Amino acid sequence: MESPAKLIAGAMVTLAVATASLVVLPYLQLKPLPPPPGLEPYTEAQLRGRQQYIAHGCVYCHSQQPRDPSQAPDAARGWGRASVAADYTHDRPHLLGTMRTGPDLFNIGARQPSEDWHLGHLYQPRAYVPGSTMPPYPFLFETKAKAAPGDRVVTLPPGLGPPDGVVVAKPEVRDLVAYLQSLDHTYPVPLPEETP
Ligand code: HEC
Repeated sequence: MESPAKLIAGAMVTLAVATASLVVLPYLQLKPLPPPPGLEPYTEAQLRGRQQYIAHGCVYCHSQQPRDPSQAPDAARGWGRASVAADYTHDRPHLLGTMRTGPDLFNIGARQPSEDWHLGHLYQPRAYVPGSTMPPYPFLFETKAKAAPGDRVVTLPPGLGPPDGVVVAKPEVRDLVAYLQSLDHTYPVPLPEETP
């Protein structure tokens, strides 16, 4: 070894360059973005529903990141404009997803606002989309002989519910649907290059 001082100096320079490029520069680039004016924070019920979405693994089959037309025909599929970073201001953790076994859900609230449709679809997806590979979630519902006051009775397609009695939505599935209905990012945003 020529000189330990040179070795140490070299190591320090390498460390300084690595710290600058991997820590300091990203820190300067990643400023907190203001939420777009059209983006509402989640309500308590929607946040509880978001936990249900995580707990039931919806994220493993559904993305929440429509892409730019140059990358995928997501807009033509009806999934909405390409998402921008500020769209995720209130999302901790974000639920971008990597798999698209089912459609992207970033704008499902705008595409399908009906609570009845969502409840019925979660109870049995195949009753709405023949041959759907989405699993049914019947354990989020209760079958009762008669609805009690305050029960949310689910309106199901003919022949799907129990022959006598009603299907009632449990509070957790109502929260989940409130979350799905909140997924509406159709408000305008500045183009990515104009984003501050
Ligand atoms: C195994 C993969 C899989 C899982 C897990 C899954 N889905 Fe799906 N999902 C699909 C497929 C496939 C479709 C398209 C067919 C259909 O509508 O049933 C779909 C459709 C949907 C739709 C309708 C989308 C549209 O554009 O019409 C919604 C809403 C939805 N899923 C919500 C959920 C929620 C909420 C969960 C978690 C409780 C979930 N999915 C779990 C595969 C999945």
